[in-house]
Amino acid sequence: MNNHLLALGDFSQETLRSLIDRAIALKAERKRGVRHQVLAGRTICLLFEKPSTRTRVSFEAAMYGLGGQVIFMSAKESQLGRGEPLKDTARVLSRYVDAIVVRTFGQHVVEELARYATVPVINALTDLYHPCQVLSDLMTVLEMKKTLDGVKCVWIGDGNNMANAWIEAASIFGFPLTLACPAGFGPDETILAKARARSPLPIVVLRDPAEAIRGAEAVSVDVWASMGQEAEQEQRLGLFRDYQLDAALLAKAGREAIVLHCLPAHRGEEVTDEVLEGPQSVIFEQAENKMHIHAAILEHFILKGKAA
Ligand code: CP
Ligand code: NVA
Repeated sequence: MNNHLLALGDFSQETLRSLIDRAIALKAERKRGVRHQVLAGRTICLLFEKPSTRTRVSFEAAMYGLGGQVIFMSAKESQLGRGEPLKDTARVLSRYVDAIVVRTFGQHVVEELARYATVPVINALTDLYHPCQVLSDLMTVLEMKKTLDGVKCVWIGDGNNMANAWIEAASIFGFPLTLACPAGFGPDETILAKARARSPLPIVVLRDPAEAIRGAEAVSVDVWASMGQEAEQEQRLGLFRDYQLDAALLAKAGREAIVLHCLPAHRGEEVTDEVLEGPQSVIFEQAENKMHIHAAILEHFILKGKAA
């Protein structure tokens, strides 16, 4: 059963767009006070090997909001932390719950779990991808710009899990994407090559953030050292210094550009406080959208799996 969300590149534009549209509808309904019970009687397990505030709480709130139940398990406290094989964990958890939402290091972990699980496995961040986050980001761009068609999106900073997911999103939706990354910190070359082959528009990787940001309608930044890279934090501070999104750099994009950050943010590093708190920042709408996207994802994957 291929009913997992491991990477955006596995999906068609139609499927991803339907998740975003459903999330927008669920958001509007929630604001009108509509409460759903569509996942009543279902349970998900969150299996997290890295810290989380937004993803954990928004998945939990989304599941409860649809009438379902949640079991949270940190990998460290589980038998996985003592070396129990992923293939056993996947098969056991599949007998208890209706989906497994995983935050971990290697992409091979979610792939191995998916290979053995008989329920959907959802990637809630690996070192390679953060697909659910980029879906919320696209939802936010769509809400703000009313379309994704031709919207120039720009990524400034590390070519990390978020950048890789943005690259796949651009190739699927066909919007123009430009990244500015320091030398040696570009996105994954294999992902980039595959995305370029699929994309109707160029996906451009530059060094110069000032050049990249020209004409941008949505500018995304993220921490310079991701979870698991804490030892490189000091070194990266120096290497990424010219990649800070400050008011002067943002001004090159123009007043209509929106600023996205998946959070948590390091003010004074990848972005200034002024920009993050400024009128072009949509970070809290973006954070809220995680919950609506997660609701749409859970509904889609759990119900699709059961109906099949
Ligand atoms: N954006 C995001 O994934 O945040 P958390 O690490 O808090 O889940
Ligand atoms: N790139 C960051 C995203 C955090 C939500 C990390 O992996 O730590």
